[in-house]
Amino acid sequence: MPARRLPKTLAPWREVLASAERESWFPLIFDRSVPAEAEAMDELMNDGEVVYIHDMLEAQLKDLVRSRTPSKNYTDDEVAQEIERLLDGQTPQNYGRWAFYPWSRRMVHLLPPDSFTELRSDRNRNKITSEEQARLRKIKIALAGLSVGNAVAVTLALEGVFGELRLADFDTLDLSNMNRIRCAVHHLGLNKAIIAARQIFEQNPYANLVLFTDGVTPENIGEFIDGTGPGDRVDIVIDECDSIQIKLKLREEARARRLPVLMETSDRGMLDIERFDLEPDRPILHGLVGNVTSDQVNSLPPPARLGLILQIAGLHTISPRLAASLLELNLTLKGFSQLGSDVTLGGATTTTAVRRLALGMPLASGRVYIDVSGQLAEVTSPPLPDLSHPRRLREIGEVRELVQYAIMAPSHGNDQPWRFEYGDGVLRVFHDTERGGGGRDEIGRHWALVAIGGALANLQIAAGVKGREANIQLFPAKQDPSLVAEVRLGLRAGGPADDPLFEEIPRRNTNRGLGTRAHLSPVHVQALTAAARDSGAKLQLCTDRALLGELGQLIGEAERLRLLTPSLHGPTMRQIRWTEAEAHDTQDGIRVEALAVTPMDFAAFQLLRSTDVAKVLRDTNGGRLLMMSSVQALASSAAVGLLTIPGQSPTALVRGGQAMQQLWLTASALGVAIHPMNTLIDMFARVERFHGAGFDKREIQRFLEMRERFTRAFTVALADVEILLFRLSYADPAPLRTLRRPVDAVFSAPLPEKKSP
Ligand SMILES: Cc1cc2nc3c(=O)[nH]c(=O)nc-3n(C[C@H](O)[C@H](O)[C@H](O)COP(=O)(O)O)c2cc1C
Repeated sequence: MPARRLPKTLAPWREVLASAERESWFPLIFDRSVPAEAEAMDELMNDGEVVYIHDMLEAQLKDLVRSRTPSKNYTDDEVAQEIERLLDGQTPQNYGRWAFYPWSRRMVHLLPPDSFTELRSDRNRNKITSEEQARLRKIKIALAGLSVGNAVAVTLALEGVFGELRLADFDTLDLSNMNRIRCAVHHLGLNKAIIAARQIFEQNPYANLVLFTDGVTPENIGEFIDGTGPGDRVDIVIDECDSIQIKLKLREEARARRLPVLMETSDRGMLDIERFDLEPDRPILHGLVGNVTSDQVNSLPPPARLGLILQIAGLHTISPRLAASLLELNLTLKGFSQLGSDVTLGGATTTTAVRRLALGMPLASGRVYIDVSGQLAEVTSPPLPDLSHPRRLREIGEVRELVQYAIMAPSHGNDQPWRFEYGDGVLRVFHDTERGGGGRDEIGRHWALVAIGGALANLQIAAGVKGREANIQLFPAKQDPSLVAEVRLGLRAGGPADDPLFEEIPRRNTNRGLGTRAHLSPVHVQALTAAARDSGAKLQLCTDRALLGELGQLIGEAERLRLLTPSLHGPTMRQIRWTEAEAHDTQDGIRVEALAVTPMDFAAFQLLRSTDVAKVLRDTNGGRLLMMSSVQALASSAAVGLLTIPGQSPTALVRGGQAMQQLWLTASALGVAIHPMNTLIDMFARVERFHGAGFDKREIQRFLEMRERFTRAFTVALADVEILLFRLSYADPAPLRTLRRPVDAVFSAPLPEKKSP
């Protein structure tokens, strides 16, 4: 079969139609401004040969007008005027060309060749300038082998990188080719050169192709490279064929004519470049095949031929998978292993190399590996963006603000037994044992955990209002009991919460002032009980006046003993800040003025600073005066409350602290004054839970009797733990606010070392 060339005239169109199914490979192009062609087209239409008509000429014209002057903002009228100008008196119907594709029976209306080419390549600019594009359109290329070659041919056409393309392949498409040749199932059984031609013409009906459907043979190789006459020689030879003989032959002929040869191997993205145009003495295939010539190849035994293939592929450079599959050839594998991705890449690299050759850009002989898989395997991650500034700072700032709210929580003796550390997106909350509850001070830790629970409640409320969800895990590390909680701050579903308790966080305080004796409003009873219950705790309220009197006695007695018992005297006194200066110095503890409500209390406290005075009073079972303030306080109150929570564990204490805070903030919102009077339950805990530490037998016995009397007001299940005993009243605001240590004394967020670039 001779080379197939485009007919110069329309004359053979009936023949083309006759063999359309398997043989047709180019479109018939009608110029209706030529009467004979209009007539032929009409005939074709009237014969019913055309099944689909695509007429998008108007859109192409508009696109052309706009792309010619992109800076101009055309109105629709102006575009219409420009189109009129382009039509130059012709009817749209007769303007441009009609391309008929015999294999699909489509008739497509298109711009005439020049403007079609101009518009089709418009978006290449200026990666490829118009001037370069024009040069590329003069290039003639001979491409042998249309498996990998299909991707090359179609990409060359896509980019407009040839003036004439000669396509050679004798083979027809098998289904097993379709893993790498981008074509359609209706192409099965068709010659691969014809398939490529159809695909190219469907992109560009004006393309100039010559087909060698017998493939490259020793007989036609002259015509394949030299064309039909002087000046018809190709500029570049591309080898994508399988035959070693033809591979060598192509190079022998190309080298003799000083033509560059390109070959893409679809393995590790290897592109082989032989610049015989510049180096006519360069050995074929860089000397990899030694002195073997194309004539000798077919006489070599099959193992030697396989050896040649391996040498050409590059024994030491082919991918291990290809090497292994070559050894399986004709045993467990029918052909070379090739992947669609590799072949597609080959189209891209070869087209780029052609462009460089054609435009005279540097391109040396040799092999280049555009090894996508290998390069992907070696991707190294750039260092993570340094979050320390400013995002991390902002994040730390947000967490620091939440901690500021946390530390507004109350604590026993205002000892603020907490420490916060932020890192890796986790806020760790520690019990600062140096501030109380360290070592064997079990009761100290008991109240410290309650206080930390209060701080966590504040943190959670503040986080919600700031649009964060605080996920709290209690005691996450068994080996470190000082780590009370890990808090992870995520984004809150539904955005910032509207929590009225948030505003109470800074307002809430201990109010030891005397109350109005007003009864507790039932609404307030309900709200406070619910607040405790919702936090998993239980609130009992005692409002009975007689019982309140009894409780006053009990609490007063506990207070008296606290001040007189040697082991408690010291710690109690250490909580007290005797002057304003002292309070500002430590930013913790309680001002004596806040504790001693009456001048008599004040005098008593001053006297009791001396352990000697305390000892005498204790020895003489004196100091009844010290009970007075509690008795008086209770008489002014609306109720006494006892908050308990199920469980005895450290977790229960923290939960109890959270409930306490919810309750206290609720009371604050209701205008109910809270005055914790925990000394009594502190003593009970010492006796019942911590072996009566610090008390003598007589005192222990005394406390057990007091527990009896206490149960007249409150029942406490054995499995529950007492968190807060307090009086509730309607009273004037407390005149003094307790201080807190500054947030930066308790909060740290180590910044990661700033890496030098
Ligand atoms: C567990 C616990 C027990 C407390 N016990 C008493 C107490 O027995 N007597 C008292 O006057 N205040 C007590 N308080 C109140 C604290 O002294 C007070 O919360 C702290 O000084 C901070 O002051 P503020 O509540 O006004 O912020 C207790 C607080 C907590 C959290």
